[in-house]
Amino acid sequence: MSEKIFSGKTFLLVTGASQGIGRKIAEVLGSSLDSGSKVLLLARNDENLKETANKLPKTVSVDCGSVDLSKATANDLKGIIKNCVSANDVKQFNEVVIVHNAGSVGDVTQLTTDMTDLDVWRSYYDLNVFSPAVLNGVIMEIFKEKSIKKHVINITSLCGIQPMKSLGFYCTGKAAREMFFKVFAEEYPEVDVLNYSPGPVETDMLQIIANDVGDRDVKASFQDMRKNAKALTTDQTIKRLTEVLLSKKYKSGDHVDYFDE
Ligand SMILES: NC(=O)c1ccc[n+]([C@@H]2O[C@H](COP(=O)([O-])OP(=O)(O)OC[C@H]3O[C@@H](n4cnc5c(N)ncnc54)[C@H](OP(=O)(O)O)[C@@H]3O)[C@@H](O)[C@H]2O)c1
Repeated sequence: MSEKIFSGKTFLLVTGASQGIGRKIAEVLGSSLDSGSKVLLLARNDENLKETANKLPKTVSVDCGSVDLSKATANDLKGIIKNCVSANDVKQFNEVVIVHNAGSVGDVTQLTTDMTDLDVWRSYYDLNVFSPAVLNGVIMEIFKEKSIKKHVINITSLCGIQPMKSLGFYCTGKAAREMFFKVFAEEYPEVDVLNYSPGPVETDMLQIIANDVGDRDVKASFQDMRKNAKALTTDQTIKRLTEVLLSKKYKSGDHVDYFDE
């Protein structure tokens, strides 16, 4: 890639970097960084995080933080980030990039009328809505120097703007998370915010939906997609993400889908 997406010393944080889309984002964006940049990879599975870290060039320093994001408080997150960059270190960065990618699909067997257990709602929203919101605030506070250019990429989904039967947790969680980042973009026009919808991508999550989703029509469409190899690879969708970032045609806060022109 000749053109650069980010320039100068950059701090890149990717959540859910242990597999799937997050691993590919870490690999591709991390490999595009100038030397002296730092990458922080978060997820629960430490071994898989290390495997991702090994895919990055030696010119950037990579830290892995094994953390259950559904449980981590703002203080826990601050601690993990400050272990990786000290207060003095922060000032040396030209850019900070945070990719809110971690997520789960939740219970895909229930219709909306079955979604009556508050604990299930809370635990789903803890990971998928509250955690990215809290982490975002923590990062903005740590990298508050005006001289540091800030980029926030939220990995959203078509399900955040289009209802799908049996995907009540996932659709509402994606919609709420995306709207949070749209409000954030309005409040902080100096931050570059992108809600990127990666299209259907062959990962564990897609497999869970195709195998377990309650609604028969939705299940048939996901199974057909997988059987006929219509789902994208992580390479394809992250190549598109880099094109979107390079072209800078979106307005901060926009929802941009893989299939958009
Ligand atoms: N695949 C698709 O078709 C598709 C389509 C649209 C949007 N997306 C979005 O893309 C993102 C990545 O999905 P994917 O398809 O790559 O799914 P995936 O393979 O299931 O990966 C999910 C990632 O989230 C992490 N994660 C899950 N629970 C966590 C927790 N409690 N604490 C910390 N990390 C946690 C996982 O790491 P650990 O298990 O190691 O914690 C893993 O790295 C999600 O936001 C998803 O909604 C996916």
